[in-house]
Amino acid sequence: MERLSTPQLLPGMVVAEDVLSYDRKLILSQGTKLTDNLITKLDLYGVLTVYVEKASTKADTAAEADTPDISYFERIQHSPVFKKFKADYELNVDSFQDALNNMVERNIELDVNTLLQNTLDMIADGKGQIGILDMLQNLREYDDSTFTHSMNVGLICNVMAGWLKFSPEEVELATACGLFHDVGKLMIPHAIITKPGKLDTEEFALMQKHPITGYQMLQAQDVDDHIRNAALMHHERNDGSGYPMRLTGDQIDDPYARMVAIADVYEAMTAARVYRGPLCPFRAIEILEQDGLQKYDTKFLLTFMENVVNTYLQNRCRLSDGQQGEIIYINRDKLSRPMVKCGETYINLAERPDLTIEELL
Ligand SMILES: [Fe+2]
Ligand SMILES: [Fe+2]
Repeated sequence: MERLSTPQLLPGMVVAEDVLSYDRKLILSQGTKLTDNLITKLDLYGVLTVYVEKASTKADTAAEADTPDISYFERIQHSPVFKKFKADYELNVDSFQDALNNMVERNIELDVNTLLQNTLDMIADGKGQIGILDMLQNLREYDDSTFTHSMNVGLICNVMAGWLKFSPEEVELATACGLFHDVGKLMIPHAIITKPGKLDTEEFALMQKHPITGYQMLQAQDVDDHIRNAALMHHERNDGSGYPMRLTGDQIDDPYARMVAIADVYEAMTAARVYRGPLCPFRAIEILEQDGLQKYDTKFLLTFMENVVNTYLQNRCRLSDGQQGEIIYINRDKLSRPMVKCGETYINLAERPDLTIEELL
């Protein structure tokens, strides 16, 4: 038996002693198996601690919670680490938004170091059992403002730079490059940024100016050159199809700009937009597999895609025909199409072009 505070409780844990309200009414009796709703109920009654049968590990809890309707992602949402991360994230986005608005509206100098440090602290606290990408996946209900997008790109750059074995200083710089890559968008009317349909020619031309505007804004700030370059070049593509300067291959000569380009497009695909829900990470990887190699830094992209899909090994998923299963093997030459075990059947998606992973569970 162990005493846990209410935010530490997880679905599947078993109550070891009757839980009473402050006026001695029974809320839960001994032996009750906790569910999401019951944990919420405890919260509502202001119960601070509960005795439960032995402390369960995350894996134990998953196995014990014979409630298949509770997914891995729902369990994340109830974990104390995630709750803390979410609270930190919201505070961090708010202060980031204030700082950028102060720069634009009141000409107050950007305190890059403090904003970066807040983000790094949040990442350091959130690291552990749950990866940053999994936590981000659970924050998708939030708005798709330039501020949350930028924060998410900063977090993805941080993870990606780690995968690419960058030094700690380089990982920090990559995070900053992600955070500030879209500052130029603050000068574009909000109605254009959030327009659900296709932009008309004039709106599109205005939108395409944000890299140059961002670069110019950052020139007035005391920031590393790479941060400016990432703002300027994150929409350039190896095959010359990008903007604003239509640079090709070697001309995009800043590794941080190349990295932000990948984090930016992945974030945009996997975030909910006003006009569509979020794309499943495997669908995003499939799109990158189709045309990413001509457009992005090959080594960065391959490392990124491989690590993203590895994150989801052993995750449950739903296929496009409605079947549910577990991702059990990654096909190295077709990363978006792993082997999935549905019941006793093994489905190799690399050989089943008719099926896709629709959702991670
Ligand atoms: Fe951008
Ligand atoms: Fe962006």
